[in-house]
Amino acid sequence: MKKIEYATLTEIEKKLIIEAIKTRENAYSPYSQYKVGAAVLDINNNIHTGCNVESADYTLTTHAEMLAIDSMVKSGVTKVKEVAVVVKSDVGYGFPCGLCRQKIREFALNDDIIIYGVNLDRDKKIKDVYSALLSELLPGSFGPEFL
Ligand code: THU
Ligand code: ZN
Repeated sequence: MKKIEYATLTEIEKKLIIEAIKTRENAYSPYSQYKVGAAVLDINNNIHTGCNVESADYTLTTHAEMLAIDSMVKSGVTKVKEVAVVVKSDVGYGFPCGLCRQKIREFALNDDIIIYGVNLDRDKKIKDVYSALLSELLPGSFGPEFL
């Protein structure tokens, strides 16, 4: 993964990140206090968003990326071109967890789609933007063509 400048992104990529930031505000995370926002860009250049949704059961949590992808599938589209994930973390970025990487893999247009990991500062302004290819985050991955 590499750190990139937000200003160098295309308009649609900037929009993808802004939509993920907005959706993060709706995260329901009273147990972890960790809000995540995600947005996926589909092959028709439409954006679908998600936030994490926790539960008193603890195990019953929807991840932001999962909701964004399910929202795309619900709209009738099953191919993702790009993904943005937004968190506010001292670590500096927050890429999708293993489960979400596999879910993105299921619907990714190819192995080389870009995943942006965006970190916000205290004032919820964009602090750092990192970029990684799906193939970097999930090398040698399992997918539908293996069945
Ligand atoms: N979370 C996500 O939404 N996406 C990930 O890929 C990592 C984790 C959420 C789940 C939980 O609500 C909170 O972050 C802390 O794990
Ligand atoms: Zn996840």
